[in-house]
Amino acid sequence: MPQIPEKIHELTVGQLSARSGAAVSALHFYEAKGLISSRRTTGNQRRYGRDTLRRVAFVRAAQRVGIPLATIRQALAQLPEERTPTNEDWARLSAAWRTELDERIKQLGRLRDHLTDCIGCGCLSLETCVLSNPDDAFGERMAGSRLLPVRNPAPGADQG
Ligand code: FES
Repeated sequence: MPQIPEKIHELTVGQLSARSGAAVSALHFYEAKGLISSRRTTGNQRRYGRDTLRRVAFVRAAQRVGIPLATIRQALAQLPEERTPTNEDWARLSAAWRTELDERIKQLGRLRDHLTDCIGCGCLSLETCVLSNPDDAFGERMAGSRLLPVRNPAPGADQG
């Protein structure tokens, strides 16, 4: 991993990419999403503050454990003056995200168990396949599609 001399306080996008391990396109994406920011030189080149390295490390670590970018951005925005996360910030946020991760792992475990039933089946039935219709709130009470509103029949209309 290339080292950056201490006296350099700003990084080009290439230096930030080389040092952080994030692709240049990922850094542009993070910037477009408001996760990092840069200033422009007179030649319209991006320059990142040195602390952006830590910010990128924070984002990538959070992404690695499956935290959505929107959640990461929210967390960063809540830090005072949008400062770069400290060790304590990471400890606090990762503890809060652990509960979310535990829940997601439980959900994945349930999906994996249902996948076992689907292997070799292929029906994708909305009535019987839990994977093709996992949120079927009506499935326990009635069979078939009942999501369309029931219209009042016209007076005298045959209801057969
Ligand atoms: S595909 Fe048949 S039960 Fe899921």
